[in-house]
Amino acid sequence: MAKERLDKILSNNGFGSRSQVKHLIRSGRVCADGQVVYDATLHLDTEETSLTVDNEIVVIKKDLYIMLNKKAGTVCSTKDGERETVYACLEGEALRRYEKGQISSIGRLDLDTEGLLILTSDGLLNHRLTSPKNMIPKKYLVLLERQVSNQEKEDYRQKLSQGIFVRAEGKEAEFTSLPAQLEWNETEGECTITVYEGKYHEIKRLFAELGNKVTYLKRLSMNKLKLDENLEPGTYRELTQEELELLDAKQEEE
Ligand code: URA
Repeated sequence: MAKERLDKILSNNGFGSRSQVKHLIRSGRVCADGQVVYDATLHLDTEETSLTVDNEIVVIKKDLYIMLNKKAGTVCSTKDGERETVYACLEGEALRRYEKGQISSIGRLDLDTEGLLILTSDGLLNHRLTSPKNMIPKKYLVLLERQVSNQEKEDYRQKLSQGIFVRAEGKEAEFTSLPAQLEWNETEGECTITVYEGKYHEIKRLFAELGNKVTYLKRLSMNKLKLDENLEPGTYRELTQEELELLDAKQEEE
């Protein structure tokens, strides 16, 4: 089990916000293996260390990390009058946690988008991976309606690598995209794009600005974690510890 910061452990296990638990720790009310600890940044392995607050044992609630291969036709919202939600396939412990309101998706995919969707109870991880300042790479497979010449392919690649102006859509504001990487596959009209932000209908709007239309979209990876292609659309499994580390890996400095 990887080590975690003491304040994060306590905060994740119901002892209040990070600042509240820091106060708790500084007041000398927290012990690790019987010794009072005052350092909120201390890294501990909760499987090996017994923690107490006011002499009561802290029961560690493990976070759940699920890799789902989203199927087309499902929505990422928790309730939808007509359409199936991505949570409909959950069973057992995952379903119980979802019903308690503890599970949410890390970002959202459109109704017709397939592929990698992470569901988790870990709100801090969710925040880290969706915060725009962290610029987490997300890679998509894209099929385009209109065939493009070699010249256009290069043109798309160049424009996307510099960032393009994207018009507003409904209530969603206009924006200038951050540099994205486009690669063309052997198959005609098929490419992969890596983006570093999470704007509404981002990929569809980018290609619409280039004068084309996305006919199929699938998320292949998030940060360093790739979709397990053995997962059938609409099925899920828990992440391994190594996969969780890939998902939460720090971005390399330029
Ligand atoms: N961009 C889109 O246009 N749709 C998605 O589902 C994800 C990214």
